[in-house]
Amino acid sequence: MISCILKHRQNNLLSWHRSVATLCCALALPLIAQAPMKTLLVGVDHRSAMSLNGDWHYLIDQPPARGLYTLDGKVRDNGYGMNSHPNITSGPHNEEYDFKTAPTMKIPGDWNSQDPTLFHYEGVVWFQRDFEVQPKTGSRTFLHIGAANYQSYVWVNQKRICDHEGGFTPFDCEVTSVLKPGTNFVVVAVDSTRHEDQIPGIGIDWYNYGGIHRDVSLVTLPSSFIDDYDVHLKHEATFAAESSNTLTGYVHVEGAAPGTAVTVKVVEAGVTTTAKTDANGRAEFEVAAKRLALWSPETPKLYKVELAVGQDELTDDIGFRDIRVKGTEIMLNGKGIFLKGANVHAEAPYRGGRVNTDADVKAIFAFLKDLNANFARLCHYPHDERMEREADREGVMIWSEIPIWQRIAYDKPEVYKKASYMLTEMIRRDRNKASVILWSVSNETPNEPTRTKFLTDLANEARKFDSTRPITSALLGPHAKNNQMVQDDPLTRALDVIGQNEYVGWYDGKPEDADTMVWTMPDKPILFSEFGAEAKYGVHGGKADRWAEEQQVNVYEHQFNMISKIPQVRGIVPWVLMDFRSSVRNIPKLQDGYNRKGLFSEKGEKKMAFYLLQNKYKQHALGKTH
Ligand code: GCU
Repeated sequence: MISCILKHRQNNLLSWHRSVATLCCALALPLIAQAPMKTLLVGVDHRSAMSLNGDWHYLIDQPPARGLYTLDGKVRDNGYGMNSHPNITSGPHNEEYDFKTAPTMKIPGDWNSQDPTLFHYEGVVWFQRDFEVQPKTGSRTFLHIGAANYQSYVWVNQKRICDHEGGFTPFDCEVTSVLKPGTNFVVVAVDSTRHEDQIPGIGIDWYNYGGIHRDVSLVTLPSSFIDDYDVHLKHEATFAAESSNTLTGYVHVEGAAPGTAVTVKVVEAGVTTTAKTDANGRAEFEVAAKRLALWSPETPKLYKVELAVGQDELTDDIGFRDIRVKGTEIMLNGKGIFLKGANVHAEAPYRGGRVNTDADVKAIFAFLKDLNANFARLCHYPHDERMEREADREGVMIWSEIPIWQRIAYDKPEVYKKASYMLTEMIRRDRNKASVILWSVSNETPNEPTRTKFLTDLANEARKFDSTRPITSALLGPHAKNNQMVQDDPLTRALDVIGQNEYVGWYDGKPEDADTMVWTMPDKPILFSEFGAEAKYGVHGGKADRWAEEQQVNVYEHQFNMISKIPQVRGIVPWVLMDFRSSVRNIPKLQDGYNRKGLFSEKGEKKMAFYLLQNKYKQHALGKTH
């Protein structure tokens, strides 16, 4: 979530600051009061932009991070963001930092996997680089950051332009008024320190990589421009293949006068239509396509969608499909489907660190394809947009989730606001991705009334913001009573598809206990969204030898036995595609800082369980579509 400090600065910042500062002191948090993000550029990866990726200088501002925060936790506006230089040879004494002579690291990229001294570091790191621009009169320019974990503060030419909270969603900050011809500079402070009232909270089972870990660019646009759009197959009350050829949606134009004409063209589908913006800059349209091939894993058809208004135009690649729930079935284009999936963390195979290159994404999809998977749960946070783009092209269906992982401060209204922002950012970025079939609001959260209200409200908000996709969440529990598993979590009532996590045979009981386990589940489509066991690649032994590959296979075989008896199951999603770093996994020689439940090791080595799944998925031997 982002706040345009600059705008407020023009509207008497001090009084605003003071009111929010009091709030933040109460929370002992840096200043982060936010307006709903006004400008989050959708389709930014399909715009011509000046990339700011590359080598950025960096400085480490260890706790209590006095380069960034004042004694009472406020953000210093005259700190390192000023990018001043120390007087070295002659006085007077001034600053004691200097980006110019500081080392550099690659952006995008987390700092943990680039600087060995920062491997375990959670705190503040500053980034700075110069860039050349010749601002064009009458145009508007935005600094686009794909994601930075966790809390970011951004200065351009000594002006603080925006803050953003959340480690996995993009933000765009307007820099039009601060740019000058020639050399400019940007300074970004990123704080990956964990706090109770963040999302995720303090406890996580993945590596808290810090830094600007996704693309950075400068996007220059005409004075009125398209910042958001939605082009999808009309979601009728019922789906009928022969009549499903209506495209609908909207285009939002920033800075447009009411009645401004917007054109939407999908030439290949015989679509050209014009719509007019309303008082809020939104132009809604509905148009029949002459011919439309629907997107599916078998035929991941994407269409060039051309949007234009005034001097602005944007072309995106969009697939059209219908996804819905019917009773206990998940229907894609009117047919029941079974999801053969894997859980995927945003960690780069082989090189480690956060995923942020085409090569990283290709490697992950090669694993998924090799596994014969048609589905991936991108856990537990929105991934690099490259993942959804590749899924669109490769025909892999996607579950996308915001990082409400286990316990967060469900009782705090400001935390709900953050969750709502993150949900909006996630849906806004990927609503035009045909591959994304499910939005998830959380994972393994405690079955308590405050949480249930929090997540039910969030699920309803998601439904309102996007009525074309089912809403889900991964639930933990129930706890077995003898061999009975009754899933009666009240949150199931707020979900269209239920994700069930369970670890019978690893955390709970013996692998064979699964054979006699009797599940009572709500009458909705069920996905077994997590199950599995740890095994260190190359460790071999008997079926009951924990950490041996044979044991992992054994756990899966008993799981398949159990899951295949549950009629509502419409998909399985083993935990996890690849071993991944986690700071809570510290058994030497076995874990060494990795969660070892992968089907692949972090080096891409296939464990025996990989072949078991690969075969089952090939034969469609698991589960039923209806
Ligand atoms: C949980 C959780 C994962 C975690 C996994 C595990 O279910 O959702 O994030 O990594 O179990 O314990 O391995």
